[in-house]
Amino acid sequence: MENIILIGFMGSGKTEVGKRLAERLSYTFVDTDDVIEKKVGKSISDIFDEYGEDYFRDLETEVVKELSGIRRHVISTGGGIVINRDNILNLKQMGLVVWLKASPGTIYERVRYGSQRPLLKVDKPLEEIKRLLELREPLYAEADISIEVGGLQVEKIVNIIVGAYKKIAGEEVTQ
Ligand code: S3P
Repeated sequence: MENIILIGFMGSGKTEVGKRLAERLSYTFVDTDDVIEKKVGKSISDIFDEYGEDYFRDLETEVVKELSGIRRHVISTGGGIVINRDNILNLKQMGLVVWLKASPGTIYERVRYGSQRPLLKVDKPLEEIKRLLELREPLYAEADISIEVGGLQVEKIVNIIVGAYKKIAGEEVTQ
């Protein structure tokens, strides 16, 4: 239990919360999408366009495996990481898995302007968010804890996670 892993839909605040959380705990922040972009030398959007979603998902699984030995990290994951069940199982081995849970409306408001997210480049993004959320919610629900993020400030979310982590991981967690 030496890492914190954030899962949840696009726009649920994983990156922002993750960076603040890492600062609070003096942990290192890592984002699986960033690792993939560096590996391939292309943006997520270009990877989807040029090689397709399946190729991206394989890379995602590879990255989770590569990260498996790390400790004292906050890991922010791509919203679809839960699609492959092996990823959930591997992430749970690595630390406390936290689901940042947001409603379709909240997500839509956050991603509607200037989103680079390939899966939401569709005619009716809100409908697509609802559809994907319905498919994924049972998978996100495998997290150790979940937090309804709607209306909560980042600091508040960080406090909740730190509190839960200290309780579960023990008092050796430094702040
Ligand atoms: C995806 C979410 C994105 C990124 C890719 C696919 C998804 O990450 O991995 O566009 O399937 O939900 P964020 O959740 O960080 O936006």
